[in-house]
This record gives sequence, C-alpha cells and structure tokens, in this order.
Amino acid sequence: MLKKIKLEYVVEGMYSRELCGSWMEHPFWRTRFLLDDAKDLATLRESSIREVWIDTTRGRDVEGAEAAMTPAERDAEVQASLQSVPDAGRDWEPASMRQELDRAATICRKSRQAMTSIFGEARMGRAVDTELARKVVEEITDSVARNSRALVSLARLKNADDYTYMHSVAVCALMVALGRELGLEDDAVLAAGEAGLMHDIGKAAMPLEVLNKPGKLTPEEFAVMKRHPAEGRRILQAAEEDLYPVTLDVCLHHHEKMDGSGYPEGLVGDQITLYAKMGAVCDVYDAITSNRPYKAGWDPGDSIRKMAEWAQGHFDPTVFQAFVKSLGIYPVGSLVRLESGRIGVVVDQSAGSLLKPVVKVFYSTSSGCRIPPKVVDLSATHVQEAIAGREDPTAWPFPDLDELWSGLPGGNG
Ligand SMILES: [Fe+2]
Ligand SMILES: [Fe+2]
Repeated sequence: MLKKIKLEYVVEGMYSRELCGSWMEHPFWRTRFLLDDAKDLATLRESSIREVWIDTTRGRDVEGAEAAMTPAERDAEVQASLQSVPDAGRDWEPASMRQELDRAATICRKSRQAMTSIFGEARMGRAVDTELARKVVEEITDSVARNSRALVSLARLKNADDYTYMHSVAVCALMVALGRELGLEDDAVLAAGEAGLMHDIGKAAMPLEVLNKPGKLTPEEFAVMKRHPAEGRRILQAAEEDLYPVTLDVCLHHHEKMDGSGYPEGLVGDQITLYAKMGAVCDVYDAITSNRPYKAGWDPGDSIRKMAEWAQGHFDPTVFQAFVKSLGIYPVGSLVRLESGRIGVVVDQSAGSLLKPVVKVFYSTSSGCRIPPKVVDLSATHVQEAIAGREDPTAWPFPDLDELWSGLPGGNG
C-alpha cells in the first residue's frame, strides 16, 4: 500500500516510492529505493524534501495511522484545489485541434531549426538574431490563437538530443497560451512568447559536457548550471533595444520561487514579476514532461497533479490555476482510465469542463486487450462515462501513445 508521510516519520527500512519535492532539486538519482542506509536518510533530512510516498508492501510501515495519507485522500485534496479553477468556457477557436496539428508540426520543425541557429550563434559569441526570434514568436502566437492546444501539445514531444531547442519552443507556446488565458493584451502576449523562447539562452554559455550530461549533475556542475540565467541576460543585453524588457527579466528570474528558495537572487513573492512567475510554471511543466537522456518524461496529467502538490511555495497560485485552465487538468496526451475500465488517451479538452476532456479509448482492462480506437467526449450529455483516474504510461506497453492523440507518425511529425 502507498502512503504519504511527513519526513519526520521516515525511518530506516522504509521503501521510498516517490519523494515529494521539486524533482530538479532532490538529492537522489532514483526515487524508488529501500532506505536501508543511514547516510541516505541523513541526506534526505538535509534536503528540501518534506514528504515521502512509501510503499508498505516493499518496506517498513509507518507507526501511527495519523502520520499517513493514502493516495485517495491526497488525490481528493489536489482535485478539490483544482476544481476551484473555473470551468473553461472557452472562446470559439477558428481551428480544431485536428486541423491545427499538421500546421503546428511544421511550425515546430521550423522553430527548432531557428533555435538551433540562435543557440549556435550565441555559443560563438555573436548577438542574438532578434528578427528571426520575432518571426518564430509570431508564428507560434498565430498557431496558439487558431487553436490553443495543438502546438503546446506537440512541442512537449522531443528527442533527448534536441531538448534545449525544443524546450525553448515549448515554453514559448506555453507562455503564449497562458498569457491569453490571463487576458493579457496582444503585445503583452507576444512579449511573454519572446520571453519563453529566449529564457534559457544562457545555456549557450554552459560547457557542453555539463549541458548534455546524460545523468544527474554533481553539486559542482549544478553550481555551474545555475549561472545560466545571469549568462542569458548578459547575452540578451547585446540586443536589448530589439527585445521586450520582460524577455531579459524572465531570462534572469525564471528559476525564482515564491518562498524565496529559488535562484539567482532568492526573490520572494511579488518581488517576482508576473512574467517571471509565468516563466517558472511553464518551464517546470515542460522540463518534467519531456524525455531526457536519463529519464522518460512524466505523463502530462500526473505532472499537473505533482505541480499542484508543489504549488505552495514554488508557484504563484493565480498563475498556476490559469495554467491549469489553459492546458486542462488532464492535458492532451494524458493516459486515463475510465470508470468502465477502458483506457484511453486525452485528445482534446471539451468546451464544458476541465474534468471532462475528449478521450480516445483503445484498451479494455476487462478483456485485457486493445479495442478499436474510439473518441469519447466525456462532456457530451449522452455519455455516461467519467475518468476514474490517471494511469502511468510507463506501466503499459503502448509505444504508439503519442501517435494515438496526435495522428502523426512517431507522434512528432
Ligand atoms: Fe532555465
Ligand atoms: Fe528552461
């Protein structure tokens, strides 16, 4: 049985299933392991981790039931906080998800090329081609205006080797969608997009062996990587007059956290600007949902759940709620189980409710085999189906999962 317990109740012999803290900061390479080493326990106590999910079938149980919270209790709590996000009530969008996906795939490809070039130039010490960056932002903004989910969903899919470039494209698209959700003016939405596109340009100044290291960074390497916001601002300053001022701000401050535990300046609360708060949310979401050389990306729906757990202290609550509203509680690409026992992938959000997306079902748990894929809009009045829970894609043999929702071969065109 899984139980979530506070760190002070963790003792040797327990089996850690998940460490509840920012994945980018916890001190362990793995999160599933037997805590049978006093040194590991000491490291855990010194870390920023405050709670741990333990598996009592694989290790010691916790004494005293009041110390533990079951997954059902925890999910109910997270779900309740997310349900306070008003239902979508989306404006009419000129293109359907299906119509926009092909165009979005082309824009992703072109944007990836542009970012490869911009990072390459920056690495050689040349100024950023702001005109090229502006064109990329405009194309992405137009696509998000036609349909707010297509490009955002596709940009999540990346190969490990194009991570830095596609991450820039993805954070740009997420910033644009979030800016629109927050009701920003058109020019402010473009500024948010440019900030997203350029936020990690400082990585061009990082040693390639650290940047592309296939594994967890040592504390020394992490200290080097922590210089990328300041390096980024230095790179952008050379082209400052051709950039939105918020682009420099987000570049420097996208790793700040509301409780002051971020870097480089340890800003607190409203010392962090709206754009930098937006950057923090979009950056973390894309980082945890992306495939990396050393770890598969997390399921989008599970990532939203985890971010909701971290939200206090890390993110601005209003910005995070708008983010959930723009993507959905179960974003496109999430693997879900319906109450009927069928398993499907979320292919779109519905106009009615964040809790009732459009799902393509393709597997029956009662028969234990694949079924002909069928699209079910859970918000439709005649549909008597609801989501029973999220499913972990790594626990299922569904190699065509991304193709199932995107309709594109290999999932990323
Ligand atoms: Fe960054
Ligand atoms: Fe980033």
